[in-house]
Amino acid sequence: MQKVLDVIAKNQDRYLEELYEVLRIQSVSADPARAGEVRRCGQWFVDRLTRAGLENVRLMETGGHPAVYADWLHAPGKPTVMVYGHYDVQPEDPTDKWTTPPFEPTVRDGVMYGRGTSDDKAQVMTHVAALEAWLEANGALPLNVKVFIEGEEEGGAGGTHEFVRKNRELLACDAVAVSDTAWHSPEHPTVVYALRGMCYMEVKVKGPSRDLHSGVYGGIVQNPLNALAKIIAALQDEHGRVTVPGFYDDVVPLTDAERAEFATVAPTEERICADLGVPATWGEEGYTPTERNWARPSFDVHGVWGGFSGEGSKTVIASEGGFKVSTRLVANQDGKKVFEAFKAHVARICPPGVTAEVKFLHAATPVMVPTSSPFMAAGQRAFESAFGRRPTLVREGASIPITATFLEALKAPSIMVGYGLPGDNIHSPNENFRIEHFRKGIVCGAWLLDEFSRVEP
Ligand code: BES
Ligand code: MN
Ligand code: MN
Repeated sequence: MQKVLDVIAKNQDRYLEELYEVLRIQSVSADPARAGEVRRCGQWFVDRLTRAGLENVRLMETGGHPAVYADWLHAPGKPTVMVYGHYDVQPEDPTDKWTTPPFEPTVRDGVMYGRGTSDDKAQVMTHVAALEAWLEANGALPLNVKVFIEGEEEGGAGGTHEFVRKNRELLACDAVAVSDTAWHSPEHPTVVYALRGMCYMEVKVKGPSRDLHSGVYGGIVQNPLNALAKIIAALQDEHGRVTVPGFYDDVVPLTDAERAEFATVAPTEERICADLGVPATWGEEGYTPTERNWARPSFDVHGVWGGFSGEGSKTVIASEGGFKVSTRLVANQDGKKVFEAFKAHVARICPPGVTAEVKFLHAATPVMVPTSSPFMAAGQRAFESAFGRRPTLVREGASIPITATFLEALKAPSIMVGYGLPGDNIHSPNENFRIEHFRKGIVCGAWLLDEFSRVEP
């Protein structure tokens, strides 16, 4: 390990320069106009992994955006670990809210700013650099490694899940190392063992066959936007509970032991309010914010459209409107089942005089990794070596959909060893990542390979 650490220390500046190069590529998976950029980014990782000394490096077609594959399999008797990350990023809008341009990485006060810094390019690059350093220092890795970097994690849908199911042999492994999560604070590192899933839908409310003058026709027809508001309002009650019949049927209840464990790491109400600039927290009654975030399903409208929202006024009854909505799922909820229940309920609550159409966009299965996995303990030890602090095992309210597919198709647990921080502004303007976390993350990546190699496969 000492030789590996020396190589890393010597090359730190080069790792940073290379990271800035890939941060300039606009790999926005949700934007069809930038599909070429997404592919170019995948190819960048192919070239980079090839230079790092990985083998069988290639861009693989998935039906959606391509995935990057590489391996090094010359450690018989040792475990096989897959390093997973995603090279696609979220859209950068609203662009005018960025202090410096989203695709021109800029450093201020030891922090790099740019789209994809924290989520997930810098975190992926820590592993690439760690692999290269091991190969440079020792001419070999201490275990078998497969690298799988997808190009459509942020889109939700796509062909990558199907690709994993169809390539079980190629991707077979004992565990997956994922650096795509965040700590609780700079003093409080975490390793994540559970993620929520989701069911994402779109609802369209349709009324008259054309937009109408609201004076000439007002009082004669149901207004689709008024109806839309009633539908949204009826989907969740004043106690923060989703009203869809059957919605909670499969939710695994929290045990007293889990609640006690959560309470040891839960932030206070005051701290949450101060951090988020809200006068109060809100959610399902009977649960703390951390319990709601980690172990209860959520309900959120993401966008509403229809009618007139420009300057001034326009007296119109829009012919239609719509909204995007999702619910984060917890064990053992099933996305398809939740969708069917939502669809049936929207049909029931849709006001007379309009029709509502519910479309399924995508779903992700919630994930719970057994904390007894020896790879989990190995991951925690690596953190301690690199950061000098033992990470707490925590759950996370967000989703990394493919980890469920890894569990289902490869029977491989994902060990979520991420280096982000709550203030990284992922998916927002001024996304950022601490340079110190990038540097130490590479060191941690090297320790992870060492620690994982000593787990009995
Ligand atoms: N890296 C995030 C998930 C995440 C964020 C984990 C913060 C832990 C802490 C991931 O890239 C993400 O944004 N996932 C999406 C998935 C969705 C598009 C299906 C999410 O959670 O919204
Ligand atoms: Mn991510
Ligand atoms: Mn993301």
